[in-house]
Amino acid sequence: MKGSIPEDKIEEVRRRTDIVSLIGEYVTLKKAGRNYLGLCPFHREKTPSFTVSPDKQMFYCFGCSEGGNGVSFLMKLNHLTFPEAVRQLAGKVGVVIPDRPLNREERERSTLGEQIRRVNELAADYFARALQSPAGAGGRAYLRNRGIGAEAIRTFRLGFAPEGWQNLLDFLDKKGIPPKLSEQAGLAIPRAGEGARGHYDRFRGRLMIPIEDVDGHVIAFGGRVMGAEEPKYMNSPESPVYTKGNNLYGLSRTREAIRQAGFSLMVEGYFDLIALWGAGIQNVVATLGTALTRAQVDLLRRYAPRVAAVFDPDEAGRKALARSLELFLAGNVHAKAVILPDGHDPDDFVRTRGREKMEELVARAVPMVDYYIDEILGGRGTLEEDRDKLREAVAFLCRIGDAVERNLFIKKVAEKLNVDQEVLKAEVRRVLSHEAAPLAAQMKKGSEGTRSGSCPQPDHLELSLIHMMLECPDRIPAVGASGVLACFTSEELRSLGERLLTAAEKQDGAIPDIYSLVHGLEEGPVRARLLNLLMGESPYPEELIDRLIADTLRKIRRKWYKERHRILKGKIVKAEEAGDRELCDSLLREKERLFQEEKRLA
Ligand code: CTP
Ligand code: MN
Repeated sequence: MKGSIPEDKIEEVRRRTDIVSLIGEYVTLKKAGRNYLGLCPFHREKTPSFTVSPDKQMFYCFGCSEGGNGVSFLMKLNHLTFPEAVRQLAGKVGVVIPDRPLNREERERSTLGEQIRRVNELAADYFARALQSPAGAGGRAYLRNRGIGAEAIRTFRLGFAPEGWQNLLDFLDKKGIPPKLSEQAGLAIPRAGEGARGHYDRFRGRLMIPIEDVDGHVIAFGGRVMGAEEPKYMNSPESPVYTKGNNLYGLSRTREAIRQAGFSLMVEGYFDLIALWGAGIQNVVATLGTALTRAQVDLLRRYAPRVAAVFDPDEAGRKALARSLELFLAGNVHAKAVILPDGHDPDDFVRTRGREKMEELVARAVPMVDYYIDEILGGRGTLEEDRDKLREAVAFLCRIGDAVERNLFIKKVAEKLNVDQEVLKAEVRRVLSHEAAPLAAQMKKGSEGTRSGSCPQPDHLELSLIHMMLECPDRIPAVGASGVLACFTSEELRSLGERLLTAAEKQDGAIPDIYSLVHGLEEGPVRARLLNLLMGESPYPEELIDRLIADTLRKIRRKWYKERHRILKGKIVKAEEAGDRELCDSLLREKERLFQEEKRLA
C-alpha cells in the first residue's frame, strides 16, 4: 500500500536519494572498495559487517541479514510505515509531496504516530511564538538570567506555555485537531470528577523544551517552572512516538558535532546540554535524569564510538556510573568518566568557570573502568566492607560479556583489592556457571534465534539464475524467452523472475528499480540470500555470462525433467501393480514424449 503519495513522486524520491549520504546520517561509514562499511544499527556487533552499495543503492548486513534500499532503511530504523518513510525521505532530498487534506479513509489509515508527530510540531510552533509574545516576557527574562541566548533558543526551539487552562487546546482546535488527539499526544488531560467534560492543557505557565528524535521531529516536551514550585519539570507521558529510554535529548542538533569530535559528552539535564552548547561545546547529549538504557548506548554509538559521561562524585553518582559502565562495556563503547567538583552541574560549571575549564576537565577524564576500580572498589575498609566490595566486584566482572576483556579486568581488580588473581577468576567462573550466560551472550543468542527458523533454503540453481538476471539485466529478456521459469520449483523465485521480466520489458534497464523488487520480497532466506549476493561484486564476467546462463538453464531443465521422470516412474510402477494396462501405456507414452522434448531443448 503506497498511502496517498503519487507513484511518480515515490519514483522521484527514490531517484534522488543517495543511499550513502542517507545512511551516513545515522551510521558512521568508511569506504571499503566500491562499498561503504559501518557498524550495523540493527544488531550489536564489534566489527563492521553493515555494507552500503552506492552502485546498487542498497544496504545489507552480513551479520544479521537486514537489507534493503533507502526507504526500507528508514522504515526499519525509525519504525515508520512506507508512506511515512517516503515523506521523510522526500523532505531530505527536496521533493515536494503535495500535503493535500486527507479524506476520511486516508485519515484512518494514517497512523496515530504520524498524527501525533504533526500535533507536536504544531504545539512546538505555538510555544515558540508564545515565548516571543507579550505573554512570554517572564519566560524570556528567565532564559536571559540563565545566560541562554537567541541562537540557543532558536536551535532548541525553546518556547513558553502561557498560564491558562486551554490556550494550546484552543489553538489546536482551530487547526482542526480534536482534543482526543491532543490527549494522545500527551498535551492535554481529560477533566476528571463527576460530570466533568472536556480537556485542559497539560503544560501551563512553563518554559517549554521540545524533545526531538534524531531526525528533529518533536516527540515530547519538557516543561520547567520558572520559580521554585514543584514539580520542577513536567514531561510528556510516553506515547506511540515517545519511549523514554529510546531517545537522547539534543542529539538531532548535536550529532554532527559528535561525529566530528569522535566522542559525545553525556550530561543529565536539558539545561546542562543547552548551556554547554551555548558555550561552544556542542558534542553533547542528555539522558534527562533517568538511568541510561541499552537503546541509548546503541543510539550514541551510531555517531561515535567514545563517550565522556559526567557524573556527580556523590553516592547516587557512583551508582549511576556503575550501572552505565556495564552498558557501555556490553555495547562496546569506550567510556570515560568526567567528575565535576562537588556541588556543581555542567550548566553552572561552564557558566562560572568557562569553556576552557570545562574542556580541561573532559580532557582529564579517566577511563570509566579505571575510575570504577580505583574509586569504587578501591580503598581498604573494614573486613566487612572488603567482603562487600569483593562481592560487588565479582558481580561486575560476571557481567562483562567478552572473555578477553573480563580477564583483563580480573587482573586489575585483583591488584586493587589485593586478592589472588586465580581465586578471583575461579569465583567468577563459579558464579557464571550458575547464573545465566552473560548479558552479551544472551543478546547474541536472542538475535540469532529469531533469524534461523525452519525455512527451507532456496534452490541453489534457481537462485543463481535470478542473481545473474539481476547482475546482467540486459540478459533478462533472453532468460524469459527460454521459458525456464516454468521449471522453477521455488514459487517465490519464479514469481520474482516473472516480475523481473515485466520490469525489464517496461523500462529497459532501470537498474535500481529491479533491485527494489528484491527489497519488496517477504523476509526470509530467499530475500536474505539475494541481498547478500547482490552486495558482493558481480561474479559474472561479461565474456562468460552467456555461457553461464546457458549452463544454468540446462541444469535447471535437467533437474525438472529428472523430477518429472521420477514421478512418472512411480506412477508406472503403481499402474503395473494394479494391472492397469491402459494407464500404463499412456504413462509410457508420456514418458517418451517427455524424453523427446528434453532432447529437443538440449
Ligand atoms: N527531571 C525531570 N523531572 C524532575 C527533575 C528532573 O524530568 N522533577 C529530569 C529533567 O530532564 C532534568 C534532568 O532530570 O533536565 C536533570 O535534573 P536536574 O539536574 O534536577 O535538572 P536540571 O536540568 O539541572 O534543571 P535546572 O538546572 O533547571 O534545575
Ligand atoms: Mn541544573
